[in-house]
Amino acid sequence: MNPPLMRDPHMRSPNTLSGAATACLALFALLLMATPAAAQDGKTLYAQKTCNTCHGPNGDQPLAPNYPKLKGQNADYMIAQLKAFKSGERKGALAPIMAPMSMTVSDQESEKIAKWLATGK
Ligand code: HEC
Repeated sequence: MNPPLMRDPHMRSPNTLSGAATACLALFALLLMATPAAAQDGKTLYAQKTCNTCHGPNGDQPLAPNYPKLKGQNADYMIAQLKAFKSGERKGALAPIMAPMSMTVSDQESEKIAKWLATGK
């Protein structure tokens, strides 16, 4: 019998280390994934909320000729329009297309998207 040999630390340490390394990597990956979700910028939100499908990837290529271009528009104006669609205040032939979309964005998200469309930032 030779107990010290059975407790050879080299037998266990590689496993323990790789376990810790895996845990660290998983945590790191989680952090990486969580960061954009916590701080979404206007550009990301614009695509995520599918605004791009009707107004174009950058807001300057509308799906139909009578759909408005948004790129370079005044940010405050766009925020006000989004609120007006939401409340039903803005009416018109095309308003029923945009009104449901306006309901998918919070005031804070509208501000971020409008600012990005207006300034590119
Ligand atoms: C299904 C197509 C469609 C989608 C998706 C869509 N829009 Fe619109 N949007 C329109 C149409 C059509 C109008 C014009 C409505 C009108 O004139 O009453 C409009 C108008 C607007 C206006 C007013 C522009 C102006 O010059 O007065 C803003 C701002 C706007 N959209 C922002 C957005 C944002 C932000 C999103 C994403 C949350 C979005 N739109 C998604 C179709 C769409």
